[in-house]
Amino acid sequence: MVKSEKIPTVSGWHFRIKLSAVAVFRDPSFFSLNGGWQADGKGPSIWDTFCLEKGRVFGEQNGDEACNSYELWEKDLECIQQLGLTHYRLSFSWARLLPDGTTRHVNQKGVQYYNKVIDDLLACDVSPMVTLYHFDLPQALQDQGGWKSAGTATLFNDYAKFCFQTFGDRVKLWITVNEPYVCAKLGHEDGLHAPGIKEPGVAAYLVGHNMLRAHAMAWHSYNSFYRTKQKGAVSLAINSDWLEASVAGCAEDVAATERQLAFTLGWFAWPVFVTGDYPKIMRSAIDAQSEKFGRSGGSRLPSFSKDEPAVLGTADFFALNYYTSRKVEAGGGCGEVLSMKSDRDARDVLDPSWPICGVSWLAVVPHGLRKLLKYIKDTFNNPAVYITENGFSQVGQLQIEDVQRSEFYKDTILEVAKAIQEDGVNVRGYFAWSLLDNFEWADGFSVRFGLFHVDFADARRGRTIYRSGREYAKIISKFQCGQSK
Ligand code: NOJ
Repeated sequence: MVKSEKIPTVSGWHFRIKLSAVAVFRDPSFFSLNGGWQADGKGPSIWDTFCLEKGRVFGEQNGDEACNSYELWEKDLECIQQLGLTHYRLSFSWARLLPDGTTRHVNQKGVQYYNKVIDDLLACDVSPMVTLYHFDLPQALQDQGGWKSAGTATLFNDYAKFCFQTFGDRVKLWITVNEPYVCAKLGHEDGLHAPGIKEPGVAAYLVGHNMLRAHAMAWHSYNSFYRTKQKGAVSLAINSDWLEASVAGCAEDVAATERQLAFTLGWFAWPVFVTGDYPKIMRSAIDAQSEKFGRSGGSRLPSFSKDEPAVLGTADFFALNYYTSRKVEAGGGCGEVLSMKSDRDARDVLDPSWPICGVSWLAVVPHGLRKLLKYIKDTFNNPAVYITENGFSQVGQLQIEDVQRSEFYKDTILEVAKAIQEDGVNVRGYFAWSLLDNFEWADGFSVRFGLFHVDFADARRGRTIYRSGREYAKIISKFQCGQSK
């Protein structure tokens, strides 16, 4: 477990707060090297395949080069130092290390690359937080059923053990799976993310289940074989909006909000932190719909087997990705088709007073983060929390002087400070998303989340700090950031 007493309380900006970390960004080598998703022995991932299909990604763009951090890592390190970060979150590409997804063949070039990144970070006094899985399954495993197949969890465990063994002497903070909700729902219910599967009401539950199994196996492997020596901490990054009833006090909206929470945050947090099983209201809603549709053959929501490592208790801290808030009202579940939407029978609405920043799904609601942090404290027995992602997007005309994003970071970090100081939430770190503008999945390069702008039209991929990057550096310089462990 991460220990709080070793984190100094500091005189911070606006408030006396404990805050240890900052900044995040996805695997630099997610696709990377010039024209070369296969460069240096990397195997293809499901996102490489997805990008090749017409109409999947904005402007038919792809991540073959993206920020080209595979070649330009030193430039990224300069950005990290310019911001004064104490921690840096990056994601490994499974297919770069194990091209066919199995330990039968290890790509030594990939190992060398990540060794260099980790060693360079540590030499600059920056602690890495490494994510093992960030949406990009090796295509070879997708060809064998992907996350719908129970065996993928076992292969993930092998991959995780390989990473703990190879890098765990230096990496002390691990995330197994990033945003299982997004992988399951967008990738297997809506078909908007790779692998582009649309099997509403069925596949996402299976995928989420196998991801939880994969996470639990990896946590147990770390616990049994590496923890004593390596003394690190392992969790999974759960994304959640803050949700509240559209009409406070309206019983239907309150119930819909509970259902919506159960189907998002609860889906992954309940098994790990509370009961070892899915929220009851999730299962009963799914089973009631199955009955209504005359579907037989057992629950569409799988059950955890007693013969496998328990999922309960497999997080050393709560890793939260927070971007926005939603009001919820009852309804939306009366369609003709079996789907997750009809199962949860709840509808999201945006409060018109919340400004939208860039992408349509991202309403700016910094106080929602404080409320969510308090909810996590109260519901999950006051865990140590890392905010593993939070950010603000820009679309359209490039604005280097991005005043709004600067204000967003100030306001949000202030809310985190209040959560710590006034609500007693045990927040250990905050990672902004993200260091660089990057390939934003189905939105390609049209959406920019970076603290540094990347010129994707320039072969050198020049990095330019945004005003928000400068402001962010000032904010975090006010904290005396200490050891996170
Ligand atoms: C969460 C994902 O982890 C990250 O990859 C993505 O870019 C951000 N959300 C913004 O959409």
